[in-house]
Amino acid sequence: MESMGELKRTHKCNELTTAHVGDEVILMGWVLRRRDHGGVIFIDLRDRMGITQVVFNPELNAEVHGKAHGLRSEWVLAIRGTVTARPDGMVNEKLATGGIEIMVNELRILNKSKTPPFSLDDDTEVSDNLRLQYRYLDLRRPGMADNLIMRHKAAQAIRTYLNGEDFLEIETPMLTRSTPEGARDYLVPSRVNAGKFYALPQSPQLFKQLLMVAGMDRYYQITKCFRDEDLRADRQPEFTQIDMELSFIDEEDIYRIGEELMTSLFKATLNREISTPFPRMTYAESMRRFGCDRPDTRFGLELTDLSSIVKDASFKVFRAVVEQGGVVKAINAKGCATFSRKDLDKLTEYAGNYGAKGLAWVKMKADGEWQSPIAKFFKDEERAEMTAALDASEGDLLLFQADEPGVVNQVLSEIRLELGRRLGLMAADEFDFLWVTDFPLVEYDADAKRYTAIHHPFTLPTEADIPLLDTDPGKVNSRAYDMVLNGSEIGGGSLRIHQRELQDKVFKALGISEEEANDKFGFLLNALELGAPPHGGMAFGFDRLMMMLLGKDTIRDVIAFPKTQKAACPLTDAPAGVNRKQLTELYLRPDWEDVKG
Ligand code: AMO
Ligand code: AMP
Repeated sequence: MESMGELKRTHKCNELTTAHVGDEVILMGWVLRRRDHGGVIFIDLRDRMGITQVVFNPELNAEVHGKAHGLRSEWVLAIRGTVTARPDGMVNEKLATGGIEIMVNELRILNKSKTPPFSLDDDTEVSDNLRLQYRYLDLRRPGMADNLIMRHKAAQAIRTYLNGEDFLEIETPMLTRSTPEGARDYLVPSRVNAGKFYALPQSPQLFKQLLMVAGMDRYYQITKCFRDEDLRADRQPEFTQIDMELSFIDEEDIYRIGEELMTSLFKATLNREISTPFPRMTYAESMRRFGCDRPDTRFGLELTDLSSIVKDASFKVFRAVVEQGGVVKAINAKGCATFSRKDLDKLTEYAGNYGAKGLAWVKMKADGEWQSPIAKFFKDEERAEMTAALDASEGDLLLFQADEPGVVNQVLSEIRLELGRRLGLMAADEFDFLWVTDFPLVEYDADAKRYTAIHHPFTLPTEADIPLLDTDPGKVNSRAYDMVLNGSEIGGGSLRIHQRELQDKVFKALGISEEEANDKFGFLLNALELGAPPHGGMAFGFDRLMMMLLGKDTIRDVIAFPKTQKAACPLTDAPAGVNRKQLTELYLRPDWEDVKG
């Protein structure tokens, strides 16, 4: 192996063009590909910035050419050579450096590499586990590196915008107390405080509110949050928030800043113009039309409530559901009457995953005629009314769901997305932003037999609804909002309670006793009594946002060192066992033997 010695890199692998022809240059990087063309050896030399073709010609320098014979994939090289124009017909238009190649006079092998466990050269499918185990190789692949480069640009654009709006970037603790976002905590035992635990923050929520009490006026932070929850394609146990909080503001300020943040971000990364203001939709409208609170508004196929039409129908399934307080809703899958029996069975099975007991369907024939196993259960007028309500015509497929509202909405919203995917209605290059507003403050948790906060317990109720806190908390609306992009919740926030009295009232409605409130959040309650200004804010899921921006199917593609579905890191093998001594120091008394570390 050789050293770089006095060699200094003069250029990166994306920089040289025909303007440099004749220059002597020094490049350093990795062997991406090696081709032996009847004596002349070509190497594609790669660094983070790009690829340059370097040439070892035996006639030019026999010794260097001889050495180049031994080069293999992913060896690390320094080369000195002369920039030459590629011969006619050999120019590669797709490559920034495609007009030139380097005739090498000197080669130094800075390091060798074993054969990598997977090819970095092409798009071969590599198992996720292997990719994560050798993440540093995976990240050498150009597509992956590009994701990190974009993420960096995005973070810069975000900081630039927020700095311009007078925000201060302030860090908040990682070793702290449990925060109230509703997931399970990651706990850290304390060595110096026997039997006590820190919790890693689920978000900086309480600290950012305290920063407002501290008079910081506008705060932001791009920071890690930790939530021990079941993972999905767009969830990680540790993820990054673009977190912000502002004093003396209302929703309009948040909407403006949120929108401007997105426009500057998309401009800086994709050079895309995003039009503002973003449409707004209340939670109630979103549930009614799309069955969920984060609708993908790139396509229609909306839900229609047919309960009032079918309430007296002779189809018992529908009638009984309405009688018991449930609903019947349907989607008109335009032009899908061509679906086969098998397609419909598959769709029914899919619906079953979300709790559907069945999925009644109708294929529309000419003149409003229904082809359907359930057609016979309805009177002519009922069929006509439903046809009209669904705006159905020949060739359409109608899909019905009858159940309690929660099930109907979830099933049809998933069916809608499945149809959207199947019919190619989700344009990959479209970015549909939406504010969802007026969330209810609380929801009833039937298992726990109490109300829980939909956002978190510090969310400000709508003023007119405050009296309902004592009588009917489920009806109270809140000053909370989410930002949705193509059906993904990319951010959320609220105006906060800044007066102790109201905070106590909300805790009471949530069934949190005074004692529990003081124990868990006493420090915040005290602060509310020491001059807390009106304030509010929001947090964006940075990883999720980047995933959407880059059109990735998994959040892992935009995170340098992500975790698996089981919250593990195949690279470092975390989480790992520890020895008894460490556990004892932390006052943990395991009833198992030392776990191998
Ligand atoms: P919330 O819990 O809605 O709000 O989180 C804000 C945003 O963070 C993203 N997100 C996640 N991303 C990846 N993996 C996860 N496990 C994960 N969980 C959440 C989502 C979400 O919209 N403190 C409040 C914000 C506030 O009120 O200001 C909060 O944390 O995109
Ligand atoms: P059945 O009378 O149970 O044979 O059902 C007739 C049709 O209604 C079938 O296509 C079922 O899939 C459908 N179906 C049954 N229950 C429901 C329901 N709760 N919602 C929607 N469709 C249903």
